Amino acid sequence: MYKIVKKELFSPVTFLWEVEAKDLAEAAHPGQFVIVRLQEGSERIPLTIADFDKKRGTVTLVVQVVGKSTEEMSKLPEGAELKDLCGPLGIPSHVKETDGKVVFVGGGLGIAPVYPILRAHKGIGNYTISIIGFRNKDLVFWEDKFKQQSDEMYITTDDGSYGRKGLVIDPLKELLAKHKDIKEVVAIGPLIMMKATADTTRSFGVKTIVSLNTIMVDGMGMCGGCRVTVAGKDQFACVDGPDFDAHQVDFNELMKRQRRFVKEEKSSLEKYHHECELKKAGKI
Ligand code: FAD
Ligand code: FES
Ligand code: MG
Repeated sequence: MYKIVKKELFSPVTFLWEVEAKDLAEAAHPGQFVIVRLQEGSERIPLTIADFDKKRGTVTLVVQVVGKSTEEMSKLPEGAELKDLCGPLGIPSHVKETDGKVVFVGGGLGIAPVYPILRAHKGIGNYTISIIGFRNKDLVFWEDKFKQQSDEMYITTDDGSYGRKGLVIDPLKELLAKHKDIKEVVAIGPLIMMKATADTTRSFGVKTIVSLNTIMVDGMGMCGGCRVTVAGKDQFACVDGPDFDAHQVDFNELMKRQRRFVKEEKSSLEKYHHECELKKAGKI
């Protein structure tokens, strides 16, 4: 069992868990993920390791409520225990010294997974530029954490309620035009944002890495659920990634594959809400 030693709410739909997992924290590297199961029979939920503390023996996960399982997770209080926490999984992000600049683009929930990669680059002395984007001011989190690790930082909101109004690719385009020494862009967020980032950097010829949050089941290369086409070849995001060269990813196919269980996901959430209502009414 894995204890949630700290829970922090970032917004009504976003929360952080710090979970006691000594061996996992010891072995974790930026870019890797875990698979969580709440209890026996629960579905397997992949989550990026947003931070880890080898001294405290904990890993940090940041979760956005998007459906049945993440809503169920949001209701667990501090002190609760998780049945399984499997990991670290996936190939760690490739972090190496560069005499140029590295840009980190995080959109929404992608901000948490991009953070340990940013910190690793800063830790080896690279010049770091962060661009983090949210839908609105109420969803903003980890601004200070990012500032500490960034030589330059930009915040955008879709509605202009905080930072600059617009999308993360707006400042990115300007930065690419201004800084000819940008050597790499690392982008994590919704698929549409990662695709737009890839389209933007392609014309500047700047290497771009994305972390793909494909649908995963076993997380060990056996089920095929996370298949993605990269450079015309089949890849399994759980074992060959999750980091890939953004310019080689078939995003159109991936976006279709990501929605293939929408009907089942919707009915599972409806069933869960129905059961919650019955529980509240003391009928089950
Ligand atoms: P559902 O209603 O079941 O699904 C909603 C949507 O979530 C689906 O349409 C689909 O796009 C996606 N999804 C559903 N099941 C899975 C699955 N088994 N694997 C991947 N995506 C799925 N989310 C976070 O909030 N924080 C993270 O740090 C994070 N890191 C991730 C890292 C990786 C490597 C991957 C693959 C996914 C990550 N996700 C993360 C996404 C998270 O796993 C899904 O949001 C979650 O599984 C949705 O479960 P649900 O039952 O609440 O929603
Ligand atoms: Fe099963 Fe990747 S999740 S092969
Ligand atoms: Mg689900």
